[in-house]
Amino acid sequence: MAHQITAQNLICPLDQQPLIQQDNSLRCNSGHSFDIARQGYVNLLPVQKKRSKDPGDSKEMIVARQNFLNAGLYHPISEQLNQLVSPLIAEESAASILDAGCGEGYYLDQLASSLSEGHNLIGLDISKWAVQAAARRNKQITWIVGTNVQLPVAPNSLDMLICMFGFYDLEKFTQWLKPGGYVVLAEAGKEHLIELRELIYPEVRRTPLPDISQALENGYQLVEEKSLQFKPATLNKKQITDLMVMTPHLYRASYAGKQAAEALTELDITADVVFRVLQYN
Ligand SMILES: C[S@@+](CC[C@H](N)C(=O)[O-])C[C@H]1O[C@@H](n2cnc3c(N)ncnc32)[C@H](O)[C@@H]1O
Repeated sequence: MAHQITAQNLICPLDQQPLIQQDNSLRCNSGHSFDIARQGYVNLLPVQKKRSKDPGDSKEMIVARQNFLNAGLYHPISEQLNQLVSPLIAEESAASILDAGCGEGYYLDQLASSLSEGHNLIGLDISKWAVQAAARRNKQITWIVGTNVQLPVAPNSLDMLICMFGFYDLEKFTQWLKPGGYVVLAEAGKEHLIELRELIYPEVRRTPLPDISQALENGYQLVEEKSLQFKPATLNKKQITDLMVMTPHLYRASYAGKQAAEALTELDITADVVFRVLQYN
């Protein structure tokens, strides 16, 4: 039996016509057709939007992140996300929520289990490895290979956009949000993974959060800003490697830094995450 795609607001990435499911594919009126993969996701990434043959996070990064997240090491982050989102979602009507750059789906899957059934949840990532892994997690969520730059959803059809540690463009996002819709951002704070960074870089930069003042002048309102700091359980050697592989640190660290990380047998880390909830009117 064909896998049912639950989202009703998907559009064709080629001509922006609504997509309707017919058997094992999604089709638009002009006849463009997109197969539903065996794992239950759809690839809506136009070839011309692909900057490389295998865009986004690699299979290796996805496996490492899935191991790390499944161990519950960032569970407080997903709890915080759920706590921020739940009060903004009306129980009586079906909300459309899209996780832009959903990775291997951990946070959206956890969010789904904290909300009542019947909402329209879409996880989108440019990495097919990420989306394949996500599709294995939860069959009720609609999983899409696509790009945050051109979301394949109807204009003004989303109640909420979530972006966890990913790439976002607040100005572009406005076209897909309903009036009064929300954007929830989670980003690394200045002390995030400070113990690891002090070990692998000669000098640690404490970079401020991206400036959103332009968005605040152009229709967004900052509804809530919340800082979350915690210390996950001590990482073992395998988890230290996973953390290096799942982040840009493996590529950015100096040779000496990588060697220092490899020599560790355990590590205590600080997680420092800043959530910003914005509303667009
Ligand atoms: C740091 S990871 C975060 C993944 C997930 N949100 C999490 O926190 O576990 C960033 C993700 O963005 C994806 N990505 C990069 N460029 C993208 C784009 N233009 N559109 C959609 N996803 C993109 C990557 O493939 C990767 O999965």
